[in-house]
Amino acid sequence: MRALPRTGRVALVPTMGAFHEGHLQLMRRARAAADQVVVSLFVNPLQFGPTEDLSRYPRPFDRDTRLAEVEGADVLFAPDANEMYRSNPTVVRVAEVAETYEGARRPGHFEGVATIVLKLFNIVRPDVAVFGLKDLQQCVVVRRMVEDLDVPVSLLFEETVRESDGLAMSSRNAYLSPAERALAPRIYEELSRCRDLVRSFPDEEKLHVRELEASRVRLTELGFEIDYLDLVDVNRMRPAASSEAERAIVMAARIGNTRLIDNVRI
Ligand code: PAF
Repeated sequence: MRALPRTGRVALVPTMGAFHEGHLQLMRRARAAADQVVVSLFVNPLQFGPTEDLSRYPRPFDRDTRLAEVEGADVLFAPDANEMYRSNPTVVRVAEVAETYEGARRPGHFEGVATIVLKLFNIVRPDVAVFGLKDLQQCVVVRRMVEDLDVPVSLLFEETVRESDGLAMSSRNAYLSPAERALAPRIYEELSRCRDLVRSFPDEEKLHVRELEASRVRLTELGFEIDYLDLVDVNRMRPAASSEAERAIVMAARIGNTRLIDNVRI
């Protein structure tokens, strides 16, 4: 695998394509931070479980190419899986922060993410890389990998971009039926309600537990199947023990055949 040619400061935006406004925002942030912007587009098989949506993941390649061009990307790096992996690839396992929540529900997922992100860092050798905070745990996992393995890259994390009704933008929103799409904003509504309560009563742990449980019940009654909804210490990706910690409320829920994740920081 050869390194890409480079001039000046290089920013990398790693993506799996099916661009929406959230991706375009990452590209704009990259554009502002560097002389050259490389967008990678690779639906990474290593981060999908055997029963997950790898085969139906949207791949509108021509549209993505046009959008990346409009946003001023200098290089769109879109390898295919055979170029990236041999049949039994070496993988990167990030400690602790990759073990909970998404890591616990999707075995192997963060190994796949860390492996492809490290490979992209080694191929592109960016000065800076931009990730979206919608995948909060992914940001924490990548940061931990960069710290632990002394990877010479600066990380930028960009706020979640939302639809006007609050639903976090995601390529997987395309899977939602009209009825599911109408319900989906309830996730952010409940997250916001819990966040406001924690902000108002930062040390009242019992209140937090009760509010989170009330949200779980409301969402379940609406038809969501909740994987987790928890107040976490962002740096450890474990349940938050005190208000000293940098905290967020993280959630994953299934509606029909679609699994959605979202979070709000306190
Ligand atoms: O967030 C994503 O789209 C992917 O997990 C990433 C970071 C591009 C790695 O495949």
